[in-house]
Amino acid sequence: MHYSVLLPETIEWLNIHSGSRYADFTCGMGGHTRAIAERSAPGMVYSMDRDASALAMAKQNLAGGPQNIEFIHSAFSRARQALTERGVGKLAGLTADLGVSRVQLTGDRGFSFSTDGPLDMRQDTSQGITAADLVNQLPERELANLLFNLAQERRSYVIARALVRNRPVHTSLQLAEIVSRAVPRTGSKLHPATLTFMALRMAVNQELEEVTALMEALPDLLEPGGRAVIIAFHSGEAKIVKTCFQRLHREGRARLLTKHAVKPSDREVYENSASRSATLRVLEIV
Ligand SMILES: C[S@@+](CC[C@H](N)C(=O)[O-])C[C@H]1O[C@@H](n2cnc3c(N)ncnc32)[C@H](O)[C@@H]1O
Repeated sequence: MHYSVLLPETIEWLNIHSGSRYADFTCGMGGHTRAIAERSAPGMVYSMDRDASALAMAKQNLAGGPQNIEFIHSAFSRARQALTERGVGKLAGLTADLGVSRVQLTGDRGFSFSTDGPLDMRQDTSQGITAADLVNQLPERELANLLFNLAQERRSYVIARALVRNRPVHTSLQLAEIVSRAVPRTGSKLHPATLTFMALRMAVNQELEEVTALMEALPDLLEPGGRAVIIAFHSGEAKIVKTCFQRLHREGRARLLTKHAVKPSDREVYENSASRSATLRVLEIV
């Protein structure tokens, strides 16, 4: 069963008009895309993902469904260029459900400590450096800083030292084992390598830089009255979204519609525990 996080809330806040243009910048399995396409037809939905395999799966999931979707393989930091290349002007609304998909986590591209695979972690496998490059090439201090700055891993120095001593590290299970040996579980429910995996994934995919670029592009992407509905999971990402929304509101260029972030209901968290840290914020361009 595939759950799209905060789906009814996203649809309600997008305030969809049939016949208008929308974008889903994180297509994933296509859950949000489908719901937006059904409500906006005959308008178009531009559905973007930098993971080509996610787009292929979404196309399969949505085959036989709404036809008013154009799939685009791109990072959302390039959203304005990608839309302009297709002759698409400003949008009536856009959404992004940030982070990593369950399919990526359960696949064999090294995203998780519980499934084995080459230590890659790139969402777009056609570009950039891999997690193995970082683990095997960064100086110990830089590796420790990366773990601390991106995931607030308090044992970053111990972990970085263990990783450097055990180079080369090639697979996700090898990484998980080295971290578990270096910092054994101390009563926490979390796997000892949880934060290490998260920090490496965020660095490989430049997640904070991507969100910052998307936030800066919002006034160029949306028409007056157009809404941005952004779902974040990581506190660093949530902070970037909140700060940008507040700034645009203060400058009189947009209205912040969610004074407090919208969170999933108890029922949603019960049915899909991965939704527990989600926060949704909405901005309307004036
Ligand atoms: C949480 S999933 C989205 C799930 C989707 N809303 C659904 O209903 O199936 C996040 C997706 O966004 C993609 N993604 C993350 N950062 C991206 C970026 N900067 N540019 C484009 N796609 C990105 C990931 O590859 C992943 O497929």
